[in-house]
Amino acid sequence: MNIGLLGFGTIGSSFYRLTLNQEGFCVKTLLSRREREGLSCQVVYSFDEILNDPEIDTVVELIGGMHPAFDYIYAALNAKKHVVTANKMVVCAHYKELISLAEQNGVCLRCTAAAGGGIPWLPSINRAAAMDRLDAVEGILNGTTNYMLSEMTARGADYSELLREAQELGYAEADPTDDVEGFDTRRKLVLSANLAFDISVNEQDVPCEGISTLSSEDIAWAKERNLVFKLSARAERHGSGISAYVCPTLFPSATTEAQTNDIYNLVSLYAEHIGKQSFFGAGAGDYPTASNVLADCMEIKRGCPPFYNDHSLDDCGIDNAGTEGPWLFRANGTYTVRCLSVANAFYVLSKLRGIDSTALLAKLPYTVEV
Ligand SMILES: NC(=O)c1ccc[n+]([C@@H]2O[C@H](COP(=O)([O-])OP(=O)(O)OC[C@H]3O[C@@H](n4cnc5c(N)ncnc54)[C@H](OP(=O)(O)O)[C@@H]3O)[C@@H](O)[C@H]2O)c1
Repeated sequence: MNIGLLGFGTIGSSFYRLTLNQEGFCVKTLLSRREREGLSCQVVYSFDEILNDPEIDTVVELIGGMHPAFDYIYAALNAKKHVVTANKMVVCAHYKELISLAEQNGVCLRCTAAAGGGIPWLPSINRAAAMDRLDAVEGILNGTTNYMLSEMTARGADYSELLREAQELGYAEADPTDDVEGFDTRRKLVLSANLAFDISVNEQDVPCEGISTLSSEDIAWAKERNLVFKLSARAERHGSGISAYVCPTLFPSATTEAQTNDIYNLVSLYAEHIGKQSFFGAGAGDYPTASNVLADCMEIKRGCPPFYNDHSLDDCGIDNAGTEGPWLFRANGTYTVRCLSVANAFYVLSKLRGIDSTALLAKLPYTVEV
């Protein structure tokens, strides 16, 4: 496999180093914005040099962001080159379009590292969905917020102190919005739900609440009740529709979810015959993530189908009006618990935000005394 590599940051440089020990996988050309010395590949500054090189059969996109990453992926597929990417933003926003473009051109598009980092989560969903009926996918999908919540729980530290610390450690970006407001988690949930249910979900349709209003008092409130806050995402079938949401969720402290700490991810699928299967591991980081990028390249070399399975994708609106469950609200310092549908819980939160901009919503495992 002759690879055109786009980007030489955390994941791109690790992927490059992994290929050095892999027979049959050669980074022929790197697209860079700056000079790079000491590499065994050619370094170019224009994507056209990769696009127009007939010897390059696979483009590995590790630039991140929407543009120019989307444009490069689109052009590469059109030029009948396989594409491997870790870019959840692009694949989530252009899922259906990119899959059909790959199919039309008889090439593969793979993005295992886009959800779950180093965990082979998307291929596991695909494998399960091929033989069983998936009922739900859920999990802790963002390492940054999980680190912050774990430390808030362990040390009773404040949200803003932990955010600063996560930024110093390189876990959180200078602009942490995508992580702390749950948008990164939502993109990973959309990719998971699309594969699990053979649908195409618009990410804006999934209600999303992050952790930025969570206080050390909330953490202490939960601790007194043997509960632990995690930022969790869930998509499930109900009737003929799909429910999906992202929000802070309380787990009993003895559960695996509550004990998933630091930057780790824990994702689970629920299927009719398999039951629950969970996957735990590094949800981010250089070599774990780059390993999944390399694994995708290997799958392509083995002759995998254009995406993870054959698709007849339906555009799918989200219906959160169905199943009811207990929710925790906090506004003006007062906690309440109410049994509501997901749609109604998010509606109540929007009303509470009108009287208290720091109002909190969290999913509860069972009704608790307040
Ligand atoms: N980091 C993780 O743990 C992780 C986990 C899962 C998925 N991902 C995904 O992996 C992708 C890469 O993430 P990363 O953490 O490796 O990012 P990063 O460290 O910021 O690296 C990005 C690289 O892309 C280069 N780049 C940016 N725009 C470019 C352009 N227009 N032309 C050429 N090169 C360009 C940058 O160049 P300079 O060196 O010149 O700045 C840098 O080398 C993203 O989609 C991210 O969401 C990351």
